[in-house]
Amino acid sequence: MIVAIDGPAGAGKSTVARMLAERLGFRYLDTGAMYRALTWLAMREGLDLGDGHRLGVLASEHPVELDPSGRVSIAGADVTTSIRTGRIDKMVPVVARHPRVREVMRERQRRLAERADSVMEGRDIGTVVAPAADVKVYLVASADVRAARRRAERPEVGDAALETDLRLHERDREDADRMTPAGDAVEIDTTDLEVEDVVDRIEALVRARQAA
Ligand code: DC
Repeated sequence: MIVAIDGPAGAGKSTVARMLAERLGFRYLDTGAMYRALTWLAMREGLDLGDGHRLGVLASEHPVELDPSGRVSIAGADVTTSIRTGRIDKMVPVVARHPRVREVMRERQRRLAERADSVMEGRDIGTVVAPAADVKVYLVASADVRAARRRAERPEVGDAALETDLRLHERDREDADRMTPAGDAVEIDTTDLEVEDVVDRIEALVRARQAA
């Protein structure tokens, strides 16, 4: 079974998807981490982030590993923490927009999902990666709440709140082409909900589907 969880930055996808996967005993596949890891490697190699062909080759040569404990690695390096920085936040949309990069990533994501029941988190899971997913959810939240969550995630950005906000808007715009919810996704507004409540709701959708 595949549970697709899509939505914009700061909508609460990671926390919810991780907790849900744990409850269900499913694998958690963080597709954003894959784009982040590739961006990290491309920057380490000093590649031109505008060169989609070269980045596509890099992606096929160095498949991102997502281990069940949540570690992320690429090209033999554990990048779990180094992909969660403001620098990567800023550059990852540039890498993720190349069609060739997306093709390679999507193929790999499909293969990972075939191996086990999975909760997949991303932007294009319900629409492109797994259009036949058993359960599709699209998380949204108010701009204020999303910015506040981002600030909490990136303490190094400190009280440069304005910059964080701007970045969030920028990322939304840059991600916009991949951000259309699947027509059959259930939208959940997480603005005023506790994480547990969001997870409960999605779990109920999964249980209903399992019983069908
Ligand atoms: O969810 P995140 O912040 O870790 O995502 C990192 C970047 O990757 C973000 O710019 C959106 C992009 N992304 C994407 O284009 N497609 C996905 N399935 C997941 C993430």
